[in-house]
Amino acid sequence: PFRQRLLVVANRLPVSAVRRGEDSWSLEMSAGGLVTALLGVKEFEARWIGWAGVNVPDEIGQKALSKALAEKRCIPVFLDEEIVHQYYNGYCNNILWPLFHYLGLPQEDRLATTRSFQSQFAAYKKANQMFADVVNAHYEEGAVVWCHDYHLMYLPECLKKYNSKMKVGWFLHTPFPSSEIHRMLPSRSELLRSVLAADLVGHFVSACTRILGLEGTPEGVEDQGRLTRVAAFPIGIDSERFIHALKLPQVQEHIKELKERFAGRKVMLGVDRLDMIKGIPQKILAFEKFLEDNPSWRDKVVLLQIAVPTRTDVPEYQKLTSQVHEIVGRINGRFGTLTAVPIHHLDRSLDFHALCALYAVTDVALVASLRDGMNLVSYEFVACQEAKKGVLILSEFAGAAQSLGAGAILVNPWNITEVAASIGQALNMPAEEREKRHHHNFKHVTTHTAQEWAETFVSELNDTVVEAQLRT
Ligand code: UDP
Ligand code: G6P
Repeated sequence: PFRQRLLVVANRLPVSAVRRGEDSWSLEMSAGGLVTALLGVKEFEARWIGWAGVNVPDEIGQKALSKALAEKRCIPVFLDEEIVHQYYNGYCNNILWPLFHYLGLPQEDRLATTRSFQSQFAAYKKANQMFADVVNAHYEEGAVVWCHDYHLMYLPECLKKYNSKMKVGWFLHTPFPSSEIHRMLPSRSELLRSVLAADLVGHFVSACTRILGLEGTPEGVEDQGRLTRVAAFPIGIDSERFIHALKLPQVQEHIKELKERFAGRKVMLGVDRLDMIKGIPQKILAFEKFLEDNPSWRDKVVLLQIAVPTRTDVPEYQKLTSQVHEIVGRINGRFGTLTAVPIHHLDRSLDFHALCALYAVTDVALVASLRDGMNLVSYEFVACQEAKKGVLILSEFAGAAQSLGAGAILVNPWNITEVAASIGQALNMPAEEREKRHHHNFKHVTTHTAQEWAETFVSELNDTVVEAQLRT
């Protein structure tokens, strides 16, 4: 059968490299929703272009790593330390990420941020150009180029400059902020215009109409007679991968161990990258409030918080880590006993099978994002709950609130009293209601999958280009 050739371009490759010797590398699964969703993209003849997460200054290392990555159908973009510092730590994760999630610019170093803005934006453009060079070197006619996320907003324009016939799509995995927020960016117009060089874009019409003064139509945005098709493509997970994993003997074994370990207590679970958008302090404070208000639950419930380390060179993330540790320590000191603590906080990632087992034994999952593009953790939890039919407490600020809202208990994570009350409601919910709610969510998660998302986007991109050719 015909398989569309696809070049997936994202800052983060699905595997990250760890150096073992002069010419030897080991590859580990990368964390985050972008990688998870793209693992579900199977119907294509796909190759990945991106950064392997390490600095490789020497040629021997670069050659060996390229070879190791080729086996995974990955092509590396080598970024040096200074670029990573200015582009990835600086512009992407200190400026764009908090801004796109409505958190504003970092509080304490606002002035420093303002001053380094120009050099960071220059590095951003330079890095995007380096991605474009690699894409251009591997592009063959007939392929589709799919660019991902806020790291690569400048890429569509670079690609179209190389080759105006290239089919280029761009998808944003984060929320796109209202124009009132986006207009704070000194580079606001340049970024939007560059994205509009793409043929198909997932959302963001209002910023273009308000900031660029362009005409928005139901089909997209028009700039000097050229239409960029804009549409919404809700992302999902490869639900089968989770459902299948739960049947494996090693996962079943793991489930048995966890059940024994937490026998007699209800298990609450949080799984997040240790990121300020995830509302981890708010979640833990709400749990504390619940324990405070409900003494009889104190030795009957445990909160497992998996906090995957992320972007650890960015000062805001370092601050968050110590803040969370301090709160957890205080609460465990307050409510712990000689033999048990209420919160198990882990600063680490889990392998896929351990994660599935954890999802399966959970009674109540707690997602407290202050903003989140979708939040795939909530989908993964639902996929693993066919046996248990546990409850999902979900922030109304996560994209998933639109899709799982009817099955979850929706909360405002800033309202700690409300979240604490929801924890009580979830722990006490009758089986019948849990089943009804789970069923609703399970149906959504298993029908709105990552595969469907990718197929819809790519087929729309193909159609868009054909239509544009017919128009000219
Ligand atoms: N995840 C991971 N390593 C872990 C724990 C979780 O890679 O140790 C995955 C998790 O399974 C999920 C993703 O990270 O697929 C998080 O995606 P989400 O959309 O919830 O948030 P993001 O991290 O992209 O902001
Ligand atoms: C979010 C972003 C992704 C990113 C992931 C992990 O999901 O949308 O683009 O890959 O977080 O963050 P990192 O900085 O480690 O790639």
